[in-house]
Amino acid sequence: LDQKVEMTNWEKGHYINYKKMSENLAIVRKRLNRPLTFGEKILYSHLDDPEGQDIQRGASYLRLRPDRVACQDATAQMAILQFMSAGMPSVATPTTVHCDHLIEAQIGGDKDLDRAKSINQEVYDFLSSACAKYNIGFWRPGSGIIHQIVLENYAFPGGLMIGTDSHTPNAGGLGMVAIGVGGADAVDVMANLPWELKAPKYIGVKLTGEMSGWTAPKDIILKVAGILTVKGGTGAIVEYHGPGTNTLSCTGMGTICNMGAEIGATTSLFPFNDRMYDYLAATKRGPIGDFARKYAHELHEDEGAEYDQLIEINLSELEPHINGPFTPDLATPISKFKQAVIDNKWPDDLKVGLIGSCTNSSYEDMSRAASIAEDAMDHGIKAKALFTVTPGSEQIRATIERDGQLKTFEEFGGIVLANACGPCIGQWDRKDVKKGEPNSILSSYNRNFTGRNDANPATHSFVTSPDLVVALTIAGDLKFNPLTDKLKDKDGNEFMLKAPTGEGLPKNGYDPGRDTYQAPPEERSAVEVKVSPTSDRLQILEPFEAWDGKDATDVPILIKAQGKTTTDHISMAGPWLKYRGHLDNISNNMLIGAINAANGEANKVKNFKTGEVDAVPATARTYKKEGIKWVVIGDWNYGEGSSREHAALEPRHLGGLAIITRSFARIHETNLKKQGMLPLTFSNPEDYDKINPDDKVDIMCTQLEVGKPITMVVHPKDGESWECELSHTYNAPQIEWFKNGSALNTMAKNAGK
Ligand code: F3S
Repeated sequence: LDQKVEMTNWEKGHYINYKKMSENLAIVRKRLNRPLTFGEKILYSHLDDPEGQDIQRGASYLRLRPDRVACQDATAQMAILQFMSAGMPSVATPTTVHCDHLIEAQIGGDKDLDRAKSINQEVYDFLSSACAKYNIGFWRPGSGIIHQIVLENYAFPGGLMIGTDSHTPNAGGLGMVAIGVGGADAVDVMANLPWELKAPKYIGVKLTGEMSGWTAPKDIILKVAGILTVKGGTGAIVEYHGPGTNTLSCTGMGTICNMGAEIGATTSLFPFNDRMYDYLAATKRGPIGDFARKYAHELHEDEGAEYDQLIEINLSELEPHINGPFTPDLATPISKFKQAVIDNKWPDDLKVGLIGSCTNSSYEDMSRAASIAEDAMDHGIKAKALFTVTPGSEQIRATIERDGQLKTFEEFGGIVLANACGPCIGQWDRKDVKKGEPNSILSSYNRNFTGRNDANPATHSFVTSPDLVVALTIAGDLKFNPLTDKLKDKDGNEFMLKAPTGEGLPKNGYDPGRDTYQAPPEERSAVEVKVSPTSDRLQILEPFEAWDGKDATDVPILIKAQGKTTTDHISMAGPWLKYRGHLDNISNNMLIGAINAANGEANKVKNFKTGEVDAVPATARTYKKEGIKWVVIGDWNYGEGSSREHAALEPRHLGGLAIITRSFARIHETNLKKQGMLPLTFSNPEDYDKINPDDKVDIMCTQLEVGKPITMVVHPKDGESWECELSHTYNAPQIEWFKNGSALNTMAKNAGK
């Protein structure tokens, strides 16, 4: 295991460290003295402190050292802006950025790409120059979807990576623990802080038998989603095992792990096998495959490994499935689907079939889909519904262009879209139906929530394998079952479609296509990061000010929030996402969804100086201008929802000092600490009720110590002052974050030492 094997062909000097992993694992094995799941092996071999780390599934927080970070272009903006504010010369962990989310599908591949380049020029310029400056690999628009590029170039068995996108688990198809995170977590890892993850539980899925006919790998996850539902995987790694795993292609396993995000799982994972080896060889990473074979004894679960829950699926009996509409866990086997369409009155006229996306655009998927389209054309018929193809990467596009599948799709009536997310993330200028008109679409994507694809709440979106998408697109009818139903050829004669066939890997190797990668230059100090000072989408972040070392006195309450206050209430999404790279602009949405306990209304608070009622962000800005710090009082589980870092950055940017609540959602609490805000909780939750929005408070910041509460003095407008006790969860390193103004300031300070 002493060998030096590069993690990827695109970088120099980043070696796969199986030696270290096996040493760490030996330490943990001795301590735990029980068989481990494969996921446990990967996580525990990446512990920051394998000797001292508390390890309890579902309970302890693991401090981990991931091998890689990947960001997509929408989430990368704030992550990189934050990283820049730490003043470090380059990222501490290998990182890549992928331009895929901002490209809208309108008329097809190249034209859509050109339009996206002009609309998003300043974002692309910023990302490309920042990547060059900080030693980050940059995949330009047109290169493909993040998860495909990662599978093709960066994933490796036994590795640990985080990615700022929920479908990062796709890399589990290559035996990697790959976890979707928020930007703040990515920044930590880029800046060399250990990354925290609650030790997951494990759901084992044992696969036996072998698939045939119309059943595809997608049907495994469609079935699992039906069993576990959208919440069933929460806090768990879904670990596939058993003899059936060897019958699946590597990209098929990727599909299954990708859509594992739909059941809320931390990630999904397959054990290393020969199919992964073949895929590594086909993607010019033979040495990684050989190296993995040397470490193969640790690249699967131990015998007798225990799962918190076990599911068994016999692939020989598995039927093709269609899931939806409106939710990915409403699973219906094809034999029952026709009746379900009738019973539920789902619109049966299929309007659009969409294949590809990060979930299902492998060579195998494209070949099988093309075989069905060809079969139809051999009978003189084509797609009846509209049909789109989204290649997952430039490599896939170029390879299917060379090998003919692309031409087949076009002759069949398909539109080949850009190598990007497109309709999957709502970047779709759909013209064939009007907003509000009920209609059905069928895709090989992973997510089908209301409005996701075309912003039309009346669109019934279903997800299935690419095979069924093509078959039903030919029929133009949602009730069509290719396993039992006949079609009519051009002369009106009946025929049945043949079951799809297709190679797992291209016989003649992959064609890399156009060169879409930008490697960071050797000499980077002179590179200038491009951000226009007049931009409304991007803004360089200044480091936050350090703590002044004093207690804060006579601090006003900006808002006493009542009831549920989620990260959506604190930092709304929707149209605001345009400003995710511009902290000052996006701060205009700060807490605008929170309900003010004083009047029961959202976004209406009283300025204590003027007595005027104004919007929350505007009031905060007035205080900030006058050098007045403020606090927020919050209810139970404040900050639940997503890991959105803007929800912590905005109050800090607008001059907040502390958020004082009955309780916090943990991720938001940590995010606040990272930004130098004080998250505090009432030791006695009833004190929340005693606070009046007009009160002023003193916060004894100088008392901040590990494990000790601090005092808050409350000064009511009329009446006597009273004291209450506030608790916190700071550990010693985190207290430094507060003192230095933020976690990043602390990193920068330590790096400078
Ligand atoms: Fe993109 Fe949709 Fe995948 S948004 S990353 S193609 S899930």
